[in-house]
This record gives sequence, C-alpha cells and structure tokens, in this order.
Amino acid sequence: MITVKTIKELRSIIDLQKSNGKTIGFVPTMGFLHQGHLSLMQTSKEKSDFTVVSIFVNPTQFGPKEDLATYPRDLERDQALCDSVGVDLIFAPEVSEMYPEGYSTYVDCEGNITKQLCGASRPSHFKGVTSVVAKLFNIVQPDFAFFGQKDAQQVAVIEKMVRELNFSVKIIPCPIVREEDGLAMSSRNTYLDTEQRKEALVLNRALKEAKKLIENGEREAEILIQRLTQVIETSKSAIIDYIQIVDVRSLESISKIEGEFLIALAVKFGSTRLIDNYRGRVG
Ligand code: PAJ
Repeated sequence: MITVKTIKELRSIIDLQKSNGKTIGFVPTMGFLHQGHLSLMQTSKEKSDFTVVSIFVNPTQFGPKEDLATYPRDLERDQALCDSVGVDLIFAPEVSEMYPEGYSTYVDCEGNITKQLCGASRPSHFKGVTSVVAKLFNIVQPDFAFFGQKDAQQVAVIEKMVRELNFSVKIIPCPIVREEDGLAMSSRNTYLDTEQRKEALVLNRALKEAKKLIENGEREAEILIQRLTQVIETSKSAIIDYIQIVDVRSLESISKIEGEFLIALAVKFGSTRLIDNYRGRVG
C-alpha cells in the first residue's frame, strides 16, 4: 500500500492501473477511520481491482462555528487500518493541493434536497461536500465509489450530482455499521463523555421503536415522530435538531408511510451533533 499527497502522483498510478484494464474503487473519507469506513473499503475490495481511499478533512464542508480545527486526525493509525483491509492506495492531500490560493470553483446542488434535514442547520455543508467529491471523482476517475448510508442525505445528494453532471462513476451505498450496543459508528463519537456516550444510545433505540410500530401497522408520520421524540427525550442531555420521515430520493417530508421511506434524525449531546437513520419499505 502506498500513500501519495499530490494529484500528479495519484494520476500516474491510476493511469497505469487503468491501462492494465483494472477497475478502480474509491472510498472518500475524512480519516480517523473506524469499522464503518473499513466496511466500505472491504466492499470496494470485493467489487473492484484497485481500491483508493482519500483521507482529507475538507474545510469547505465545515461551517464557521463547526469543528474543523478539532476534527480528529491520525494519518499513521489510518494508514495501518487501510493496510489491514488491503487498500491499494491512500490519497492524503494537503489543503493547498486541493484548494490552491485563489481557488473559487464550487459545485452546488440547489433546492430542498440540500436545504432540509442537515442542510437546515448546516447551510453550506453540502456545497462543500459536492465540490470536494466532484474534484475527487475527477482526480481519481473511479469506476465505483462507496458511501455509507449513515449519511443518507449525503448519498442522495451525491447520487443527484452524479446523475445531473453525468459523472460516469457508479455510486454504491453501503449499510450503517454500529457499535455492539447499537450506536452508529462515527469519528465524532470520540467527542462524547461517558455519560453522553450512554445517552446517545437513545437514537438507535428510538429508530428501533419506530421500526416496530411500522411493522405493527402504524403509517402516520406524525405519530411515529411523536414516539421517536418521546424516546429521545428520555435522555436528559439530548437536544433534538430534527426528526423527519422523508421520501428516500427527494428527501421531501411525507405524512404517510408507503413504499420506501427514510426516518432521519440529528440530535446534539453537549456540543456533539450525532445523526442516525433507518431506511425501510412497506407494501
Ligand atoms: P466521513 O465522515 O469520514 O465518512 C466517510 C464515509 O464513511 C462516508 O461515506 C460515510 O457515510 C461513511 N461512514 C461513516 N460512518 C459510517 C458508519 N457507521 N457505517 C457506514 N458508513 C459510515 O462523509 C464524509 O467523510 C465526507 O463528507 C466526504 C464524503 C469524505 C467528503 O469530504
């Protein structure tokens, strides 16, 4: 496994692989890797000949009051983890390599899909995500790119960008990986203190409860949201950002569950904002 820091080095390796007829699988990350990230890499290994992982804490997707400066970073540890699952290449550029001085080109997916859910409290977040992912797709030229369903809105936005800008990459959404006690894995879980870590379990508990109600025939979004809210409010420190039930593609709120649906939520524990979701289908 090799780590490269420049676009030029990366390109020459990818060109060689492509000229040998190899397919390229790509897993974009911001590092501080956990089993959630590694599962995407394992799926990439299964589906493609050559797996590239990018590790880049992308400044353009953080709001001015967000955790860019404190976001956990540990390249050596990440390299060992990538190596352990057989990643072929890590791309770990400096900010100046991705955004040289004077940089001013962005890809912005407009409309409700980026304004709702996480977009409501993080107004410029998805513009940063689509811009960096578009750049990374152009740099890596992957056949397949792997994204976690943990960030369900991110997957929907990237899929829309790929459709509308005619990228030739195939997006592969991958299931949420959880800790044994049910908390969705996240690099941000490291911010939680012991008490908050325990309280954060209400997220998965609430989603499981909603799943059970749906299995028992409940279809009214309002009733489900009420129940989700009740369960989450059993945690003293939880501050709900949003709990919504939406269409999986448009991310528009729905009032009745039918077909495929997504229950998405964001909740703050202290200053740590966690997201989780459940995607299901009825009928
Ligand atoms: P990051 O938060 O590092 O996540 C990288 C990828 O890992 C994303 O596709 C995310 O959905 C996935 N992932 C994170 N936790 C997961 C879990 N518990 N189970 C399954 N997959 C999980 O998402 C980003 O970085 C950035 O926005 C990025 C796409 C790299 C653009 O900067």
